[in-house]
Amino acid sequence: MINVLMVSPTLQGHLNPTLNFAKRLASKGVHVTLAIPEETPHRFQNLNTQETNSHHSNNPSKIQLEYFSDGLSIDHDRSKYPATFIASLETKGAENLSNLMTHLKKNDRSFSCLITSLFMPWSVDVAVSHGIPCAVLWPQASALFSIYYRYVCNANHFPDMENPNETLQLPSLPMLRVRELPSVLLPSCPPYLKKLLMDFKPILDKVKWILGSSVYEFEEEIVNSMASLSGILTIGPLVSPYLLGQKESEDSDDLSENFLRPEDSCLQWLNEKATSSVIYVAFGSLMEFSQKQMDNIATALKNTKKPFLWVITPQKGGAELPQGFLEEIKEMGLVVTWCPQAKVLMHPAVACFVSHCGWNSTLEAVTAGIPIVALPNWLDQPTNAKLVENVFKTGVRMRIGEEEDGVASAEEVERCITEVMEGPMAEEIKMRAVGLKEVARKAMVDGGSSDRNINRFVTEISGKST
Ligand code: UDX
Repeated sequence: MINVLMVSPTLQGHLNPTLNFAKRLASKGVHVTLAIPEETPHRFQNLNTQETNSHHSNNPSKIQLEYFSDGLSIDHDRSKYPATFIASLETKGAENLSNLMTHLKKNDRSFSCLITSLFMPWSVDVAVSHGIPCAVLWPQASALFSIYYRYVCNANHFPDMENPNETLQLPSLPMLRVRELPSVLLPSCPPYLKKLLMDFKPILDKVKWILGSSVYEFEEEIVNSMASLSGILTIGPLVSPYLLGQKESEDSDDLSENFLRPEDSCLQWLNEKATSSVIYVAFGSLMEFSQKQMDNIATALKNTKKPFLWVITPQKGGAELPQGFLEEIKEMGLVVTWCPQAKVLMHPAVACFVSHCGWNSTLEAVTAGIPIVALPNWLDQPTNAKLVENVFKTGVRMRIGEEEDGVASAEEVERCITEVMEGPMAEEIKMRAVGLKEVARKAMVDGGSSDRNINRFVTEISGKST
């Protein structure tokens, strides 16, 4: 039996690909222990229902959950003080993860590999101290790996990041303006995120595999351009098997990844709508809107006169729907706090996806063959939106002027939705999306490019147990 240890931060955008990879490995007979920092219990309301998968039971499941303390009290607000959280993880978290590994070893669970996240670079040293080889699960586009690698290793010259209109040409990527680069490279990036990025450099020499949640055929030139610097094994799309038309692994059917409970009733609502008629609007788990942006999206959706399903997660900042909006739109629109996104994207009624272009949402839309209307905000999202429009050609990006303070106008939101649904390019965009859906599925079936890379990884770690 091959045993691997995976660690993931408790962020929805990281946990989803981690769990999907864990399920994939389990389906190949690998036993996965997933260790996550324990936080306030309410964030795990669904994960905690997986008691049967924990080490406290005798369930022979191939995915087992373990928790380690990040060293902070349970009521510490981690999202309000991310720098304290990350610093504590780096010291106390590292110590506690190491103790957990020692404990598991004493109980006959030794690992062939630790698969970690770029959010937890310190865990690579923990693995080294236990004599275990390490892989990084890269939950973003290979293009982002290329950009970050070239930046931290000074492999290319980067322009003055203060000027948003400066451009940068990197191998195999479209010309990028500074504002299209990941926000971690910009001067406005919070120091704790910049530190995470810079911590990436010293671990590159210590990890044996970079496993990317992308598809080789999507980013062929980019992946090839990295081969001589630091190879990336594409093993994606690490999305729900439902999107790939595959059955979940029987051992892990019940392992849910949602922190918020999905409102499944939206699927019945979609059942009543015509084929390819609904605009699906969702911005992942982290996005916080200004009131102005919320108002502009609401106005645009109302003006399109098309049915829409809009996910509005509880926001820290507190932007609210314009007064009277829900009464005005009546049955034309449905607003929910969280939905089963994979099922929504696969629903025949959905025509397009207005998205922030988090990498998971981007991959999910591509895998479902759904055109994207991109309204990126920060992190990798601006670059992903550029890939969607210029490389994948499965959607359009909203244009936001200098004077607009990062806010897309109602006219721009409406223009982009109309463009992908009925503009002169609409049919071509849809055909590209459907074409890439097939490419994504082929990559994951037996003998596909990602499946071959996963098999290669499993072969390479087999027999490495310490
Ligand atoms: C974060 C970053 O913001 C993103 O830029 C990075 O690429 C990954 O980490 P997040 O903003 O949450 O992620 O977005 P995304 O990557 O799209 O992940 C969101 C996940 O939540 C997706 O898997 C999506 O299917 C799921 N989701 C979202 C739901 O299941 N239901 C919803 O209603 C909304």
